[in-house]
Amino acid sequence: MQGNAPKKATGLARRRLKRTEATPISKIVWEPGTMLNPVPVVLVSVQDADGPPNLCTVAWTGTVCSEPPMVAIALRPSRLTYDILMRTRECVVNVPTPHLIRATDYCGCVSGRDVDKFEKTGLTPAPSSKVHAPLILECPINLECVVRQILELGIHTLFIAEVLAVQVSEHLVSPSGRLAWEKEGLAAFAHGGYYALGKKLGNFGFSVKKEKPRAGKE
Ligand SMILES: Cc1cc2nc3c(=O)[nH]c(=O)nc-3n(C[C@H](O)[C@H](O)[C@H](O)COP(=O)(O)O)c2cc1C
Repeated sequence: MQGNAPKKATGLARRRLKRTEATPISKIVWEPGTMLNPVPVVLVSVQDADGPPNLCTVAWTGTVCSEPPMVAIALRPSRLTYDILMRTRECVVNVPTPHLIRATDYCGCVSGRDVDKFEKTGLTPAPSSKVHAPLILECPINLECVVRQILELGIHTLFIAEVLAVQVSEHLVSPSGRLAWEKEGLAAFAHGGYYALGKKLGNFGFSVKKEKPRAGKE
């Protein structure tokens, strides 16, 4: 029996205790809002059967199923992209790199009803393998999607789409077949700002991985 002897804190608990003792945390209640940050910021490309391609910036997006792979994008009905997606039910979700962030911001500030965003930004529409919508050549990851469900949520409508094919830029694929995305980097959107993904904090499962005993210790 251990009695009331204090338990030896694990590395994880030690770190947590140190933080709460040093900085007591109190909370204030705010109005409900879209405070889940950061989120990916993507360029969604679409095209009608007989129209020009269009693209639009979307931050209300995410992965929602692993098998089949599915993503969700939320669009307001006022977007041209919404109209085209409603008609075609196909799009490409293109992942921009930090050096494409100016173009990404631009594509979220003007409508394809007024300008040809491909022409203005210099981004290149290229054929997809499974959908009619073009992918954006300069984006290293392109998810070719078909819409499976549409949910009207409020001012945004959620398109839940299955990923039919993924294209990646060949120059970023290592000889072992890994996508070396860090060569060009990834971007995120948080609280109204754009960020380049920075310092790596750990790998999946690192908190439960057995630590190797340090030299000279049991
Ligand atoms: C960073 C950023 C994120 C955006 N996210 C969304 C979004 O998630 N859903 C949406 O409907 N509009 C979003 N927008 C606004 C559209 O991209 C914008 O209205 C665009 O001009 C629509 O273009 P379109 O009319 O050619 O479709 C975002 C804009 C920016 C700059």
